[in-house]
Amino acid sequence: MVDSFIHDVPAARVVFANGSIAQVGPELDRLGCSRALLVAGGPEAQFADRIEADLGPRVVARFSDVVMHVPVDIAERAVTLARESGADSVIALGGGSSTGMAKAIAKETGLPILAVPTTYAGSEMTSIWGMTEGRRKTTGRDLRVLPKTVVYDPELTISLPAEISAASGMNAIAHLVEGLYAPGVSPISFLQAREGIRALAAGLPKVADDPTSLDARCDALYGAWLAGWTLGTTGMGVHHKICHTLGGTYDLPHAPSHSAVIAYATDFNSQHAPDAMAAIVRGLNAGGIACTDAAQGIWDLAVRIGAPVSLAEVGFDAESVDEAAAIVAEAQPVNPRPVDHAGVEGVLRAALAGVRPAGGAQ
Ligand SMILES: NC(=O)c1ccc[n+]([C@@H]2O[C@H](COP(=O)([O-])OP(=O)(O)OC[C@H]3O[C@@H](n4cnc5c(N)ncnc54)[C@H](O)[C@@H]3O)[C@@H](O)[C@H]2O)c1
Repeated sequence: MVDSFIHDVPAARVVFANGSIAQVGPELDRLGCSRALLVAGGPEAQFADRIEADLGPRVVARFSDVVMHVPVDIAERAVTLARESGADSVIALGGGSSTGMAKAIAKETGLPILAVPTTYAGSEMTSIWGMTEGRRKTTGRDLRVLPKTVVYDPELTISLPAEISAASGMNAIAHLVEGLYAPGVSPISFLQAREGIRALAAGLPKVADDPTSLDARCDALYGAWLAGWTLGTTGMGVHHKICHTLGGTYDLPHAPSHSAVIAYATDFNSQHAPDAMAAIVRGLNAGGIACTDAAQGIWDLAVRIGAPVSLAEVGFDAESVDEAAAIVAEAQPVNPRPVDHAGVEGVLRAALAGVRPAGGAQ
């Protein structure tokens, strides 16, 4: 029997092709825009030069001070530049940090975003914004920050180092896992999440073996698109709340933290979300990761691709467990298994130890 559901999918135009960076100009035209602010930092800014050369005077300014978790003071400078340059649009080129900075601009100015993602973070498919002030990270949803167009060019991900690709891929897996048991999941988003797990399980090991394989990069980026879409259209549970806290309060790196927690958060929920667990196992098996338990399969995938499975490895300190568990428990994230201090502490301690889950946890 089909359960009741709401399938709420805000529209974004998605262009997915090798070499599609050449489509950024035509896609900007399609949006009716001609004065873009180009946001790009880090090594991926090499592709911003290509966009600037293609678009010429249609790029009116460039913002390259991209910092993870969008510090409020830096976002304010980006908003000022958008206003002073008379931009009518924002091109977000790069990982979730670039997209996040572009979203901060869109939230204040209402300018449309054209996103060109170069990691597997998935922010380009969501209306979720995030900003950090001091040790506090605030997030919210606002349709104005959802990119109007997303150009996925797998060729741009070839330069993403193997280690970052692996952690970022596990970040995408985490979106898919939590989407599968979110109250907002619909029959279609359920299938899309399972397909995303299959694509990432197939692509990420090949990326780990050969980061220059374009076939592997296509599979992984396709899975990342489905993951971002799942994140944007369902809801997230205890895992995302834990990682939000690790990033916002302890300044831990985003994707590696997700990678180090997701197997243990899945283990925590395993007896409370049987349909989701079966879909994870099916997706992993179809992608070539043999397993009978979802948490173990996720852990095996992470180890296979060299992604972190231990929070100690990511820089989390055992002395912070109690405080972090209190923050997460107090937030009461919507989750299949009720979330209390002891439960979160268990997930954090397991993630600190980094040992393969026993499977079938109660
Ligand atoms: N709002 C949302 O829906 C959402 C979703 C996911 C992540 N996020 C946010 O995104 C941020 C994390 O994003 P991320 O994990 O993509 O990190 P990131 O954007 O900081 O990128 C990680 C690293 O990879 C480098 N990089 C990116 N693309 C590259 C390429 N093609 N070649 C070489 N190097 C490259 C970057 O310079 C950076 O050093 C966090 O702030 C997180 O909160 C938001």
